[in-house]
Amino acid sequence: MLKADYIITENRSIADGVYLMTLRGDTSAIKKAGQFADVAIEGYFLRRPLAVTEWDAEKFSMVYKVVGEGTAKMALMKEGQSLNVLTGLGNGWNAEAASSAALVVCGGIGASPCFSLVKDLVGRGVKTTVVLGYNRACDIILEQEYRALGAEVIVATMDGSRGIKGLVTDAIAQEKPEFDYFYTCGPKPMMKAVCDALADASGEVSLEERMGCGCGICYGCTCHTTEGARRVCADGPVFRKEEVIW
Ligand SMILES: Cc1cc2nc3c(=O)[nH]c(=O)nc-3n(C[C@H](O)[C@H](O)[C@H](O)COP(=O)(O)OP(=O)(O)OC[C@H]3O[C@@H](n4cnc5c(N)ncnc54)[C@H](O)[C@@H]3O)c2cc1C
Ligand code: FES
Repeated sequence: MLKADYIITENRSIADGVYLMTLRGDTSAIKKAGQFADVAIEGYFLRRPLAVTEWDAEKFSMVYKVVGEGTAKMALMKEGQSLNVLTGLGNGWNAEAASSAALVVCGGIGASPCFSLVKDLVGRGVKTTVVLGYNRACDIILEQEYRALGAEVIVATMDGSRGIKGLVTDAIAQEKPEFDYFYTCGPKPMMKAVCDALADASGEVSLEERMGCGCGICYGCTCHTTEGARRVCADGPVFRKEEVIW
């Protein structure tokens, strides 16, 4: 884990109420796709946990949805401003669990924590199908970026304004993608539905809980699993689907 100041190099809207922020600075603590950062916002005691979308030696990016005061304040920030961020948090995805074909199922902002995972999978030669689920076409994020990585992308929208009309589970039932391991991130009911629909398959999910310290000390983010109480920030956010008690 690293606590450091970063300079905003980009902070732009990519969909209705959703922003992509890129920060320049020390990325040495970020080791694995699916880890998250914890962003300090002036005037707020608690940091805001946000997944790392992508990173390299000099910068990292996050995609965030404006839902409350902290993210609304982030959306107003400009290039050149500085942010204090904890990086290298959480366990990340086990990309090696997929051997020849992977299914990655994302709902809404859940497309962000899966991005570097798909980059890893495709880079290892794993045939990867990404299912992206949104309410409306104007909510879609990262679709072209996923295609550019070389993944096969299936889009589902609730109102039918783009792709398959319905839920991600409808899209999976219709398209029947082949895979030997799956990964999912999005709203909890969606992830539960995905795990139920893929009950015979192995996979993992990325959970969300309200956080205090973000780094394993306060036990404020505890969830109940088949392995007992686990901290989402330090033992997760990624858990094997069999461990999760919904
Ligand atoms: C591991 C992890 C990764 C996440 N990754 C992303 C991401 O990539 N993109 C994204 O848009 N959102 C992500 N979230 C959710 C994000 O943390 C909240 O949307 C954000 O903290 C809301 O802050 P706010 O000040 O705008 O909202 P407010 O409602 O004003 O926040 C009040 C408090 O509640 C907390 N809080 C509110 N909603 C959530 C939530 N859903 N999860 C955890 N804490 C919450 C805030 O951190 C803050 O401490 C992630 C959450 C976790 C736990
Ligand atoms: S937020 Fe403190 S232990 Fe997870």
